[in-house]
This record gives sequence, C-alpha cells and structure tokens, in this order.
Amino acid sequence: MGGQKQGEVEVIHSWSAPRSLSTSLMYSFAQRDDTEVLDEPLYATFLKVTGVERPYREEVLSKMESDANKVVKEVIFGPGEKKYRFCKHMAKQHLPGLPNDLMKKGKHFILIRNPLDILPSFEKVVPPSFLELGLAELVSIYSDLSQLGKPPVVIDAADLQQDPEGTLRGLCEDLEIPFDDAMLRWEAGPKPIDGVWAPWWYKSVHQSTGFNQTRKYPQPFPFSLYDLLEKSLPLYNMLRRHVRKTTALLKSPLPPPDIPVPANEKLLAWVGDEILPRESAKVSVFDSVVQGGDSVWEGLRVYNGKIFKLEEHLDRLFDSAKALAFKNVPTREEVKEAIFRTLIRNGMFDNAHIRLSLTRGKKVTSGMSPAFNLYGCTLIVLPEWKPPVYDNTHGINLVTATTRRNSPNNLDSKIHHNNLLNNILAKIEGNNADAGDAIMLDKDGYVSETNATNIFLVKKGRVLTPHADYCLPGITRATVMDLVVKEDLVLEERRISLSEFHTADEVWTTGTMGELTPVVKIDGREIGDGKVGPVTQRLQNAYKKLTEESGVPIPSYQH
Ligand SMILES: Cc1ncc(COP(=O)(O)O)c(C=O)c1O
Repeated sequence: MGGQKQGEVEVIHSWSAPRSLSTSLMYSFAQRDDTEVLDEPLYATFLKVTGVERPYREEVLSKMESDANKVVKEVIFGPGEKKYRFCKHMAKQHLPGLPNDLMKKGKHFILIRNPLDILPSFEKVVPPSFLELGLAELVSIYSDLSQLGKPPVVIDAADLQQDPEGTLRGLCEDLEIPFDDAMLRWEAGPKPIDGVWAPWWYKSVHQSTGFNQTRKYPQPFPFSLYDLLEKSLPLYNMLRRHVRKTTALLKSPLPPPDIPVPANEKLLAWVGDEILPRESAKVSVFDSVVQGGDSVWEGLRVYNGKIFKLEEHLDRLFDSAKALAFKNVPTREEVKEAIFRTLIRNGMFDNAHIRLSLTRGKKVTSGMSPAFNLYGCTLIVLPEWKPPVYDNTHGINLVTATTRRNSPNNLDSKIHHNNLLNNILAKIEGNNADAGDAIMLDKDGYVSETNATNIFLVKKGRVLTPHADYCLPGITRATVMDLVVKEDLVLEERRISLSEFHTADEVWTTGTMGELTPVVKIDGREIGDGKVGPVTQRLQNAYKKLTEESGVPIPSYQH
C-alpha cells in the first residue's frame, strides 16, 4: 500500500455544474480497480439546508447522511478499501459553512462544460436557473482552491468527448495517479453506485458506454434560455482559460505567440464606456469597424507624464470623423477623460503609445448604410508600453512599393481612417524585401510617404518634403517642419520624384510611433555616405527636447 496507512483513502473531488458529463466521468473512474466512487455525497445536506424541492427529496433525505460534519468526516474522508475515492460534487452543493477539511484535503479538479450545451439538456429535468447551474460557485471554488495554494486542474467536457484518452491521461497526470485504459469504456444501464435521483437525471448517461458523442452537430439552442446563457458564458469562459492543454488537445496549429513587450500581456483598454483587461477588450461584430473598416484613429505618445500634441491629434480625429459624417460623436472632454482614465488605470506615464480609435459605432443590422448606426460611436483607447519601433540610431532601409497611395480622387488621405489596406499592401512589399517600410508613390509617380510615416530629404542644405496631397498630414511632419524653420534651415514643400530621394544627402521619416527615423538606404542605393546625417541628428535632438518640454499633463500624475 505504498506508504499509505491501512484504510486511508486518497480523495479526488470533482466539481462541476449539472449536465457536464460528471456522471460519465464518475463511471469512468469506477472502472478502475483502485478507485471507489461516491455520487454527490453532499446532496442531502444541500436539500436540507436550502429547502430546494425535488421529486426525490424525501428519499434522498431518508437514505443519505445530511449532517455536513458527518458527511465530510465519515463519508467523504472515512476509511475505505481502495486506494482512491472519487467524489462527484455539484458546485452548488458547496454551501457556506461546510467543514474546512472539504477543500483543504484531497485532490480537486473542475469539470466545465459550455452553457450552450448544458442548458438545453438541463431544461429536460428542472427549470434551469442561475442558482441551479452553480457556475458562480464553480468560479468561487476555483478561486478558494487557488487561495489555498492548490489551483485545481480544469478540464472541459467537450475535450472529454473529442479526445477521451488524451483528456483522461492529462487529468490523471495532473492528479498524479496512473492512467488506466479501463476508464475509457463502461457497461450501459443503471449502476449500483448511482444516486437515488438517477431515474430523473441519468436516462441518457445510462445509454452511454464511453465519452464519445454520437451526435455530430448540436441541437438548436432554446432561445427562452438566452438571458441565462448570457449570464453564464462569461463564467464558463473565465474557467476555460485555465483548461490544461495536453499535447493531444493542442488543436491550434500555432504555438502561443510572443508579445513584443511582455509587460503588455496585462493591460487595460477602454472600449465603448468601460475599461477592460486585454482579453476582454473587444468590439461587437455589429461594429462599423468590423463591417467596413468604418472608423478613424490616432496614434499618440506619452512622455514623462504628458501626452505629446494631444490637442493636435484630437483636432485631426474630430476633423476625420466630421469628414466621414459620423453622428453622435463623443465630446472632446469625454475623449480626453477616457484617455486620462485609461492611462492612469494602467500606470502608464512614460514610454507608452495610445492607439485611439473612434468607430462609427454598432449597427442595428449588418449593412453598409450609416443609417443603421443608431447606438452612437464606439471609442477605443488602447495603451501599450512601446519603446521606439525603428532603429533611430543606425537608420533603416526602404524600398519603393508598386502599390500607389490613395489619391483624393478615391479616398482622401487627409481623413485618418482605418481603411488601411492601401498601406498594408505596401507594407507587405516592404516586408518581402526585408525593408523597414515601403515608400509609396502618388498616381503620377511622385513620392507621397511611406506606408506608415511621412518622409523628408536633405539636398545641399535644403530640407524637402512632399506636399500633403497624397499623404497623411502627419502631426510629427508638421512639428518637424516647424523645427526645420526654427533651426534656420531652408524648407521646401513640393512634388519630389523618387530619383531625388535616391540621390539625397540625407533622408528621414516622421511619425508619432517612431519619431524621426534616419533612412540609410532606398531601393539598394546608399543615402549620402550611408550614415545618419548631421541635419537628421540635429532635428532628432530638437524633437527630443520638445517631447521633454511640452505636452498635456496627465491629471493626478506626480513625479
Ligand atoms: C500613412 C501614415 N503616414 C504618416 C503617419 C504619421 O503621422 P503622425 O506624425 O501624425 O503620427 C501615419 C501615422 O498614423 C500614417 O498612418
């Protein structure tokens, strides 16, 4: 008996909502020679304490022990003949006031099932309610056990059906018990281990001989239970995040990706009118940004407790929204408040970037017409820790894309909209050429900007940049143009051809995200001597100074 005292049993607790394949799992464990099983030993206590009505209430109360102390001490943890005792529990039976030993002793795991599957089958026995489901208790059991320092294993009934062996092997491994092949099959029909409620609840499980589901597709969802589904799903999803991924169950073809800045794994974003954790920060499938990229946006940077050029970015945001005829736009003050609150909640006061989006909002039905937008705009404030995205010390390479920049004939670049496919196609060309970004030309072949930044060149001491007919009138572009003048350099805004860039003395790009980025090579031609030039460095320094000195302070931030 491997170090175990005679009669001492190792207890395995299974916690679940009803209709979650918990009885199948009990049958599965009952197949093991080394395990005895108990069907809901806390049922009588639950009926006695809650007064809940059941057709078999009196029978349960007369046949089962209902004193919680006795149940825990003598039934669940009482002596036994076998090495293991599997206790099937319903989460709602975990009532306040049960002896502490129940959670402290033994090994616990949680079996979850999608409420989409639970609810239709539940309805056949008793009217389902949030209380009867017990999903809130299941979450609190997870959190209690985690607090006790033993976060329980979580398995999903759908995985048991899809890959019974892989899931059971994973569960046994986590419970540190050997896997037994016998767990995969059992005889059909009622069993002596069944609780007295079996005739009401176990009709379908009595027909089963294993976990594999016979039906390939689910039944239509009974929409009378829609409200309950809405309440239950978030709790299921919360637990689902803790499901053990066995190798057999790793269905995703892709491994979990690395996040460029790991600190961004935990961040809070503003969506609509609330602040949400990263994984929950989502827009509706009815949102205009999903339906048509129908949204405007800004990228802002936070330096040392201040938001750089906040008012200028908001001016462009509201102008873009007006040009696109958005209705029910939030006020400037509301947008500012959302930005401040989100930054403060994240404790992001420096070295951060905000992706601010304002969509035309949710539609009442899918379709193109803004007439369907009756909910008002959706505001998204997505802040991230973001160190410089380009190599601003050594410079980057650019290539020229074949994709032309939108002309005002098609979609005016002065509107800072989310229809970014034009730029994304150019960026793909840049990626394919292993370049930092791609230069985009206008319809006549003159340089407009890169897929993500505005562009400048220096030739014989003069600073040139394309006029903003085909490019976004960038805020960094405007700031740098001011600095050029302040630095007593000659500035010219005009059409510039590609060969002028190829033969320039210096080239740099500008954008909020990347600031001033030196360009040392374009289409294989070295720019100047292939090193970062003196004018670029001078302006980089002037820009840095400006970001340190100016900006709108984040309220409540103290140095
Ligand atoms: C296509 C394009 N050009 C230029 C820029 C740079 O603009 P800004 O300096 O306002 O960040 C951006 C940034 O949003 C952009 O998307």
